Amino acid sequence: MSEKNTLTIIDNRTGKQYEIPIQNGAIRAIDLRQIKLSQDDFGLLSYDPGFENTASCKSSITFIDGEKGILRYRGYPIEELAQKSTYLEVAYLLIYGEMPSKAQLQEWIRNITLHTMVHENIKKFMDGFHHDAHPMGMLVGTLGALSTFYPDAKDIFDMQSRTKQIYRLLGKMPTMAALAYRHSLGMPYIYPDNDLSYTENFLNMLFKPSPSTKYDPDPVLSKALDVLFILHADHEQNCSTNAMRSVGSSYADPYSCAAAAAAALYGPLHGGANEAVVRMLKEIGSVDRISEYLEQVHAHKKLLYGFGHRIYKNYDPRARIIKELAYKVFEVTGKNPLLDIALELERIALSDEYFLSRKLYPNVDFYSGLIYQAMGFPASMFTVLFSVARMAGWLAQWQEEILDKEQGIARPRQIYIGPATRSLQ
Ligand code: ACO
Repeated sequence: MSEKNTLTIIDNRTGKQYEIPIQNGAIRAIDLRQIKLSQDDFGLLSYDPGFENTASCKSSITFIDGEKGILRYRGYPIEELAQKSTYLEVAYLLIYGEMPSKAQLQEWIRNITLHTMVHENIKKFMDGFHHDAHPMGMLVGTLGALSTFYPDAKDIFDMQSRTKQIYRLLGKMPTMAALAYRHSLGMPYIYPDNDLSYTENFLNMLFKPSPSTKYDPDPVLSKALDVLFILHADHEQNCSTNAMRSVGSSYADPYSCAAAAAAALYGPLHGGANEAVVRMLKEIGSVDRISEYLEQVHAHKKLLYGFGHRIYKNYDPRARIIKELAYKVFEVTGKNPLLDIALELERIALSDEYFLSRKLYPNVDFYSGLIYQAMGFPASMFTVLFSVARMAGWLAQWQEEILDKEQGIARPRQIYIGPATRSLQ
């Protein structure tokens, strides 16, 4: 192998040769601009719809090796974090780069817990939604509305202000998610209980039958939810994180950025996929109808939701942990009747040429919906749960981006293919 870390390009249109540096396995797209037909030529662009092969940033938060099925946060394997840490520890790790000491963790939990309450007007805002509004739509709207409550959040280059918004967003996400859920059922809102853990408090605000009734969140379920939150906490430059960073690059406040990120997560090709998985499993209905469904997938008439990933071309490591977790949850809740269909579907798909040749394996969403459903969540809440967990990653990525001196406003180029100049008669 040569010592030279460069790429030589010969432009066959002009015969000119260019030497472009390679750094971290990448060339800088801007280096292509020197490749011109003439002095007044704009220069060569790279065309990459869907950013399939474009790194938009340097990041030290999350590492994924999609071919090997590896996921690490700040260097720690996801399997270890799921087993030995809690969601709030992981949130700290993602945002600050190191696991918290005991004292740092206590302070971190205290500060987040202090910010679990929402302004009473947020409740009124929530009341304004129609009774059958999708909870994800309510969450997106309410996140955006929070920016009007905290104008200090505009001060994004003040570290103390940023830290406060981070406490607020992590603290209030479960509260707003629970408000959206209770609103959709017409049930009275439950205030946060600061004596409970992050996920116990969340379950309490969701499922406590009424403000006057006692409710003890099941420890197995609150632990399972905590693990699910860890698994969903970050996933490098996915669609919603890209939205968070993109809006953040214009120096908008973090609430507006988070509303954009949540909106991106809402789509069925991203966070909405676990809702689509449950719908798909219901549509299949029984194990003997799986082959009929797969025939439609082979014919490109249907997708096998919960399969395939832009990055993972191997088993998604999160899916493996979630599958194991499902059995623990079902011991408490009883087995989800859709599980047998999911297991058989996975078994068949993993030996089916269509999926093998395209490297389509189960992703994080294949089993998570089954757990959520067994825990009593309607499908419309699945993406809301994902958003609560992903807030840690969005915030870590947003902070990294605005402090990155190499970043400017996200403003891609285009290749114009519309009409040339013309004039009205
Ligand atoms: N079912 C059936 N076929 C699929 C699936 C699937 N789930 N996923 C990809 N394919 C096929 C495509 O039709 C295409 O086939 P072709 O080459 O014959 O045209 C080939 O596999 C490549 O697919 P792309 O869409 O180009 O792959 P890409 O990396 O762009 O898409 C995506 C990734 C969007 C996740 C896709 O696999 C998909 O739609 N999956 C189902 C939705 C889903 O589960 N999303 C959750 C992802 S995880 C997350 O966001 C948290």
